[in-house]
Amino acid sequence: MLFYKYLGRNALKGTVLYEVKDEVAILTVDNPPVNPLSDGVRTGLHESLVKAEEDDTVKGVVLTGNGRAFIAGADISEFGGNVEGIPLNEVFNKLEFCKKPVVAAINGVALGGGLETALCCNYRIASKTAFVGLPEVNLGLLPGGGGTQRLPRLIGPGEALKMMLSGSHVPSKKALEMGIVDKISDDVVAESIDFIKEMAGNNDNHPRVRDKNEKMLEARGDENVLLDAQAMAAKARKGQFAPGQIIKCVEAAINIDDFDEGIKKEGEYFMECLLHPQREAMIHIFFGERAASKISDVPKDTKIKDIKKAGIIGSGTMGGGIAMCFANAGIPVHIIDQDEENLKRGVSVIEKNYDFMVNKGRLTAEQKDGVFSLVTSSLDYKDVSDCDIVIEAVYENLELKHEIFKSLDEHVKEGAILASNTSGLDIDSIASVTKRPEMVVGTHFFSPANIMRLLEVVRGEATSDETLATIMAIGKKLKKAAVVSLNAPGFIGNRMLFGYTAQANMLLLEGALPHQIDQALESFGLNMGPFRMMDLVGLDLGWRARKLSGKESPLHAKIGDELCEQDRYGQKNGAGYYNYSEGSRAPNPAPENEETYERISEENGFTRREISDEEIVDRCILALINEGADILSEGVSQRAADIDVVYINGYGFPIWRGGPMHHANAMGLDVVIEKLEKYKEITGSDVYKPSEMLVKLAKNGEKLGEAPEKDNRKEKLGFEMSSVANNF
Ligand SMILES: NC(=O)c1ccc[n+]([C@@H]2O[C@H](COP(=O)([O-])OP(=O)(O)OC[C@H]3O[C@@H](n4cnc5c(N)ncnc54)[C@H](O)[C@@H]3O)[C@@H](O)[C@H]2O)c1
Repeated sequence: MLFYKYLGRNALKGTVLYEVKDEVAILTVDNPPVNPLSDGVRTGLHESLVKAEEDDTVKGVVLTGNGRAFIAGADISEFGGNVEGIPLNEVFNKLEFCKKPVVAAINGVALGGGLETALCCNYRIASKTAFVGLPEVNLGLLPGGGGTQRLPRLIGPGEALKMMLSGSHVPSKKALEMGIVDKISDDVVAESIDFIKEMAGNNDNHPRVRDKNEKMLEARGDENVLLDAQAMAAKARKGQFAPGQIIKCVEAAINIDDFDEGIKKEGEYFMECLLHPQREAMIHIFFGERAASKISDVPKDTKIKDIKKAGIIGSGTMGGGIAMCFANAGIPVHIIDQDEENLKRGVSVIEKNYDFMVNKGRLTAEQKDGVFSLVTSSLDYKDVSDCDIVIEAVYENLELKHEIFKSLDEHVKEGAILASNTSGLDIDSIASVTKRPEMVVGTHFFSPANIMRLLEVVRGEATSDETLATIMAIGKKLKKAAVVSLNAPGFIGNRMLFGYTAQANMLLLEGALPHQIDQALESFGLNMGPFRMMDLVGLDLGWRARKLSGKESPLHAKIGDELCEQDRYGQKNGAGYYNYSEGSRAPNPAPENEETYERISEENGFTRREISDEEIVDRCILALINEGADILSEGVSQRAADIDVVYINGYGFPIWRGGPMHHANAMGLDVVIEKLEKYKEITGSDVYKPSEMLVKLAKNGEKLGEAPEKDNRKEKLGFEMSSVANNF
């Protein structure tokens, strides 16, 4: 479990320490490492408040957290199980109506239930490094401990909605400006004790957030607040259920005079979120991302190398973005390119990206100078000799990568990790040209690397535990969702993408049109349909590779290749499956392509037919699921949730569906198999031959979970056998 040690069936988790100092009761939440509101904490809080009330010598109460956190939130592991201890709202009620003034001494993170606890206190004093937030929306939930009713009363409904819909973390300085906290201090507990002593004489005049109605009355009748929130949710949280519920809660806060009635509404809307399948899907990803960093056969205490300096070879699209990731994490990074011109261009793109962030107000000019000063560059390999890791990001060409790894092995100090950003080349082959194959690994970042969260870590045959553990730790430092893949064609993500785009192309051959296919999949929740995506990547990449290979194009590539013959490469030259106006990425229909579609369909023996949106979604998503199951049964991915993390963070799959594997589990594997068989019948394609693993799991009424033990795995795809990597 994430937050606590299992202490036995009825043992309560966490506690609250009680001490009296200077006639002030200090309540310290103690539930390491981040003090969630587990049953023991709730009970402890309630009991401590009663004790403080009953002690006549106590003038007031200071509530704080042990260690680095105030209270990080609810105990997520309790969701869906039998909850023991005192219910949270009862504790909050006790806190809010405490007969003595209460100050929340926010010593560290106060998120979700943690901030809601602080909102029930009369005053809030935060440390300089603390931050607050209501991130429940990220788990498909809403702040159900009064947060939707109290925060709008404190800072106004517009600001509260922005915070709750984004789930953002607000640093204490900003929280002070917004009015969430009353003061910032270096020593929150001492300051809070002084504050209590100063305010204790105020008798009953200690403010309660629930009574602050002015901002609610101001907003009443002003539709814009809610309309703005709806627009924000539609844009940033497309398809999600919880944002609409949050807005309804705030609407209740604005329009209902009685605070407790508002709380009741919040409770109803919260329950609807709790029971909604999206909640389960999003919590699956929350835990999935944490589980992904654990590698079952790499011991927990594996030594991790200290990465003090990174080197990057190649300052192109990926190299520049990866360099930014290191600099943003405060790690000096040195970039090398093949010539002055390319290097200059690469470094200037990095600077432009930082300038853009300054213009958008995401970075101050000072911060930009600080972070950009960590990026150095040159043309000499000797300059990366002192790096602890060097990541190669040159053109996707095995011979070139061999050359570069030989040179790196020669120049870079002993013990340093050598990584490749290859999208699909054989890491073992790259490692084989070095004298340190155990220190060679794939680090597959996604474009734009400074923004996309996914990092596929490719484990070669020889990659050591220490190398892997270090890369997983670095991934965390760079704020990436790192997932391990064995070294196999297409790794996890691109291998699945291949089957999916191939099916989209088959549907086009059979009679559907690109915009219909894109719309159907975007309605399902994908960020971008496959044809918009192919136009963005460039149709010519696969076409050129196929031409070079001299082999006949596979069926699914026939239309794309024909469009390339007509100089339609995609967005890069304004025409592909869609047309693009100069400087715009918005796709416009391209009716002139229809003659091509009809001709190629006919030439290949297809009679074009009407295809329903249901068939489009089923066939593309089933292709993902079936390939995912094979990837799992080969042990290429460690667990189904890893595949979900890959697909959500790198390929625009909707988080609220929990990823393709969770989606399959939610559908029921028997239903998945039934559908696969149906489409196998319709198309005659082996793509829909149910993966053996699916069949076995469905038969036993089980779900996709862990990869099988080594001896029971299906044989892994070999690079030489595969057509995956060259076929986009
Ligand atoms: N672009 C993407 O979306 C993407 C995504 C994931 C992975 N990748 C992989 O990342 C790698 C780099 O891709 P990219 O899109 O950044 O390429 P790019 O063409 O944008 O940049 C490659 C850079 O490498 C430099 N270079 C070439 N030979 C060199 C040498 N001998 N020494 C030093 N520098 C040299 C080039 O001058 C250029 O600046 C490839 O392996 C690619 O498959 C790309």
